[in-house]
Amino acid sequence: MKASLKTLVFAALLVLFFAACQQPGGNSTGSEYMPDMGHSIAYEANYYNYYYQNTWGSEEEYYKMVQPRTPVKGTIPRTSTGKNGISIPGVGSMPYAYADTEEERTRAINELIDNPYPITDKGLAEAKDLYEVNCGICHGNKGDGAGYLVRDEDPAKGIEAGKYPVQPANFLLDEFVNASNGRYYHSIMHGKNLMGSYADKLSYEERWNVIHYIRSLQAKDKKLAYNQMENTLNAIDKPAGDMVLASAVVMEHHNEEGHDNGHDSDHHGHDHGDHKEGSHDDANHHHGEGEEHHDH
Ligand code: HEC
Repeated sequence: MKASLKTLVFAALLVLFFAACQQPGGNSTGSEYMPDMGHSIAYEANYYNYYYQNTWGSEEEYYKMVQPRTPVKGTIPRTSTGKNGISIPGVGSMPYAYADTEEERTRAINELIDNPYPITDKGLAEAKDLYEVNCGICHGNKGDGAGYLVRDEDPAKGIEAGKYPVQPANFLLDEFVNASNGRYYHSIMHGKNLMGSYADKLSYEERWNVIHYIRSLQAKDKKLAYNQMENTLNAIDKPAGDMVLASAVVMEHHNEEGHDNGHDSDHHGHDHGDHKEGSHDDANHHHGEGEEHHDH
């Protein structure tokens, strides 16, 4: 009697054991004992790969976990883009979405319209030095394409001819006065023919300020104004005006609180790459376009 009870319990356990380890096959995935141990919940950043056996919270919670986190206060998102596909906050290292090809040059010329920085007297003064050192030697301190390296020979004054073999662009020609800011920015980033790239010599902000400075040379040549208070050269570049003082106060105020420098850093615009950035801000927005998000 005793022995048969033992056998019965053993048999029952055996049945349970095999039932628990049911093999998958056909349309059945089988059943697993404690599946959490077989499938870890290694969240993949920015990748929504919810599976039904996830037992760590609801689907909503899982979705939130795989979303990119909001940036730490006071930091600047490197890939946040303004309407030109160029980030507004100024840091030295900024991704540039245009390759060194003719098609991409055309695209940059057509798309990079606005200078992300307003015209300031301080910016122009700093850019004067940068321009004369980096660009003026070829393009001339007046922007006329007659820099030191391409100067004409003048034996009467004992001046030797410049050694540079080709003619740099003359920025005072209407062609360049009317050219978009993208034409300048792209040239700084990738150079052109015999002109090399200056991307590693000038920071993001410096490049744009140098472009402002070139505009100021063009204005000077045409007896027009291009400074912090006034721009009669074109309708695109914005003089900072009195705003500089006002925003300096705002910036100080923001920095005290550990905020960013007053720009809307949470706002994601569109990249000019071949992907669109989905809005990750909205936690209720499921299966977003941003699921497969790749950085450049
Ligand atoms: C060593 C000489 C040299 C220096 C320094 C130089 N450039 Fe140039 N640049 C050239 C030459 C040469 C060309 C003409 C290239 C061509 O069209 O083949 C040129 C062309 C350009 C063009 C016109 C490109 C176009 O779309 O036609 C721009 C804009 C330009 N340079 C901006 C700059 C800026 C800004 C700097 C300083 C950061 C600079 N360059 C420094 C030699 C130079």
